[in-house]
Amino acid sequence: GAPETRTPTGAETGAQTTTNGQQGRFLTTAQGARLRDTDHSLKAGPRGPVLLQDHHLREKITHFDHERIPERVVHARGAGAHGVFESYGTAEEITKAGFLAKGRKTDVFVRFSTVLGSRGSADTVRDTRGFATKFYTDEGTFDLVGNNIPVFFIQDAIKFPDIIHAGKPHPDREIPQAQSAHDTFWDFVSLHTEAQHHTMWNMSDRGIPRSYRMMEGFGVHTFRLVNAGGETVLAKFHWKPKLGVHSLTWEEAQLLGGIDPDFHRRDLYDAIEAGAYPEWELGVQVFPDTPEETFAGIDLLDPTKIVPEELASVQPLGRLTLNRTPTNFFAETEQVAFHVGHLPPGIDVTNDPLLQGRLFSYVDTQITRLAGPNFSQIPINRPHAPVNDMLRDGFHQQAVHAGVAPYRPNSLDGGNPFPAGDKDNAFVDVPVTVAEAPKVRQNPASFDDHFSQVRLFWQSMSPVEKEHIIRAYTFELAKCYHQAIKERQLQCLANIDPVLCAQVATGLGLPAPEPTVPLAEVAPSPALSQLGKEWPSD
Ligand code: HEM
Repeated sequence: GAPETRTPTGAETGAQTTTNGQQGRFLTTAQGARLRDTDHSLKAGPRGPVLLQDHHLREKITHFDHERIPERVVHARGAGAHGVFESYGTAEEITKAGFLAKGRKTDVFVRFSTVLGSRGSADTVRDTRGFATKFYTDEGTFDLVGNNIPVFFIQDAIKFPDIIHAGKPHPDREIPQAQSAHDTFWDFVSLHTEAQHHTMWNMSDRGIPRSYRMMEGFGVHTFRLVNAGGETVLAKFHWKPKLGVHSLTWEEAQLLGGIDPDFHRRDLYDAIEAGAYPEWELGVQVFPDTPEETFAGIDLLDPTKIVPEELASVQPLGRLTLNRTPTNFFAETEQVAFHVGHLPPGIDVTNDPLLQGRLFSYVDTQITRLAGPNFSQIPINRPHAPVNDMLRDGFHQQAVHAGVAPYRPNSLDGGNPFPAGDKDNAFVDVPVTVAEAPKVRQNPASFDDHFSQVRLFWQSMSPVEKEHIIRAYTFELAKCYHQAIKERQLQCLANIDPVLCAQVATGLGLPAPEPTVPLAEVAPSPALSQLGKEWPSD
């Protein structure tokens, strides 16, 4: 039947439709009264003063005074586009998610972003890039809120405010820092050494992408997929760009920061407008859902670790095409609200402690950013599935709810929304056993290795890529005022690779320290630099 919770159409309310903003030939007030002038305030004679009774003047200025909303606390700078996801149907054995069934087409909205800069900052800075996708599936919205780097800085969400405070502008001078946060950034990542893996990806060419169209995307966390029979697997999501992975050189990035700070958003919009639609293939690495939640000795709940593709290849699931630019940046790109907890039946979370904290953070911040709890009614955020929630009232409520009993089930007007024998299509929280263990503020021992995968990444780089990494560390660390911080970061580099450490130390004019942890052998080069460079033949 018809959903009971929805935004009424203009015809139903007798008002103009809420999605189209303005109608008619004539300029009017917000109340629809026709105006004859919008350039002159109402004055006591041509030489004034201005009269308080000028409603049009006050309405126009008051509304303008309130046009700004807070920018995102992170990922404030971004660009978005609409598109379509077409499923290959290859996932049917591992997930019952309907949008992954064969031949399904699902509308999507994607927002790419930098992390640390403010809304007006330059596109080409050295930083991680956000890659957030909203799939408007007919079983509810699925948000894959990922980055262009497959690992994260921290293992526990409780450190997120700290890493962001360390990377955002200085509190006293408000000098933007990005990776050039310098003292605070390098202080944090050298104290919290689990950040070293993500940091080296940032110092590599991955930190300065050529184009959003040429970036990989990663869900980072391990998710749990459930098939129609209730069987589960663990999985990591990957986006691979059809155009391959390409980067700017550091010199290009710096020049573009001055010449064209909008380089990435311009590139995205121009490509789409020209009909050169960007494409990505969505894939998954699949792992057996064992009680240990490890694969090849790698803890799948540790978001600072990858699983090399040589050990678990990426299985293609479908194709994303971006084919339409937003008509209004504010309404679409700025007001879109992603959430890692927006999951359709067939995709569930794991106990990754970073993911668990994110499940709380996104809706919490959006209640401030989008002024109240009803932002899922904003057009860009509306599900394309019928919505029949019992959420009521609140700031900016747009729906006119029917019915006398806003709770389910009830015996008055709602019927039973959980009919027996018809629950198969509903979301099921996988009944994973929770360990019988004491409550502790402690990581598992498997989270303690902070260096071997960084070494793996370093060893997989070509000579020119290594050269870029050395130069990036040297450039950024040279900006630190505190020698003790440079020395502590050099110690981390010594624990990763002595040659890397020596080269950066030389660039900084400092001695290269000896490693303090054994340089254990790592698996053979996983050719990480090949990630995303393959595209299946059409
Ligand atoms: C925003 C990715 C970790 C809090 C974003 C966005 C992306 C993203 C892509 C931008 C969304 C958009 O375009 O609107 C990630 C990834 C993470 C991660 C891949 C780790 C794997 C975290 C953690 C927290 C967090 C641990 C907090 C505990 C936020 C907040 C926003 C945000 C508050 C702003 C959301 C908004 O205002 O709409 N994140 N993030 N993130 N993230 Fe994360």
